[in-house]
Amino acid sequence: MSEAQNELAAQIEALLRQYYENYYRKDLSLRDWRERVETRLDEERSFAEPHIRKIEDWTGQSFTGQRVLVVGAGTGAESVVLTQRGAEVHGIEPYDKAIEILHLKADLHGLPRQNFKQAGAEDIPYPDESFDFVYCYTVIEHVQDIARSVDEMLRVCKVGGTVYIQTPDYRFPYEGHYKMNRLPFSPRWLAALQLLLQGRSTAFLRSVNFVTAPQLNRIFFAHNALVQRIDPPWLQEWAAVRSRNRLHYWFAQRFGIGRDQNIFLKKLPPRSA
Ligand SMILES: C[S@@+](CC[C@H](N)C(=O)[O-])C[C@H]1O[C@@H](n2cnc3c(N)ncnc32)[C@H](O)[C@@H]1O
Repeated sequence: MSEAQNELAAQIEALLRQYYENYYRKDLSLRDWRERVETRLDEERSFAEPHIRKIEDWTGQSFTGQRVLVVGAGTGAESVVLTQRGAEVHGIEPYDKAIEILHLKADLHGLPRQNFKQAGAEDIPYPDESFDFVYCYTVIEHVQDIARSVDEMLRVCKVGGTVYIQTPDYRFPYEGHYKMNRLPFSPRWLAALQLLLQGRSTAFLRSVNFVTAPQLNRIFFAHNALVQRIDPPWLQEWAAVRSRNRLHYWFAQRFGIGRDQNIFLKKLPPRSA
C-alpha cells in the first residue's frame, strides 16, 4: 500500500473504533464491547465474508458480473466483499456517520463514491428493475416502514432477480443486539423491562421492529414474488451449539422457529390482468 493508502486505512480504523464503541458500549451496554470493536476493525473478513459465502453455498448464487444493491450498507463490509466477488456494487445507507466510513472505504478499495448514496430503504433512489440482487442483511428490523421497504426493494430488482433479507424472528427467545435471552413470543416492553432491571439503556431497543416470519409473509404475499426461506442451516447451526444453549435448540426443534430468518424473494413477471 502507498503512504496515502496507509493514512486512509488508519483514518478508517479510527472512525470504525468510534462508530462501534458507540454502538456496542453506549447503545447496547455490552460487557465485552472492547473485543467486539476489535473484531469489527476487520469486518470484511470477520462478518461479511462468512455470510456471503453461506449465501453462495445455499443457493449456488455467483455474484460475478451481477449488479448488486446493498440496502443499509452500514460501514461498507458487504460492499467491499461483493465487489471482490466481481459484482458491480451500489449501496444505500441513511446514517451519516456510517456513510462517511463507507465513502472512505470506497476510496481505499477503488469503488466509485457516487455508487453509495445516503438514503433509506423506504425511498430507494434508483429506477425500476436496476439490480440483479438486492442484499439486505440485519436492516429490515431497523427501518421506519417495513412494507414500503419491501415494495421498494422489489421495485428496483429486475424480473428474475433476487431480494435477500436476513433479519431476526422475534418469536425466538433471544434478542441478538443485546445478546439477551427473553421469553419466547414476548413483546418489546418486556425486553425493555429486562434491560432496565439489568441497568442497561433501552433507547436503541425503541428503534427495533420486533419483526416475525408471519408478519413478513403477509407483506410478501401482496407481491408477485416467489418466497424461499432457508431453514436447514439454522437448525444445523443450533445443533452445533446445542450443548451451549439447550433452551434455544429445544425451542427451534419444538416450534420450527429459528433465531434468524434468511429469505430469498425471486421477482416474478407481472401477473397478466
Ligand atoms: C445492524 S446494521 C447492518 C449494517 C450492514 N448491513 C452490516 O451488516 O454491516 C443496520 C443498518 O441499517 C441502517 N438503517 C437504519 N434504518 C434504515 C432504513 N430506513 N433504510 C436503510 N437502512 C437503514 C442503519 O443505519 C445501519 O447501518
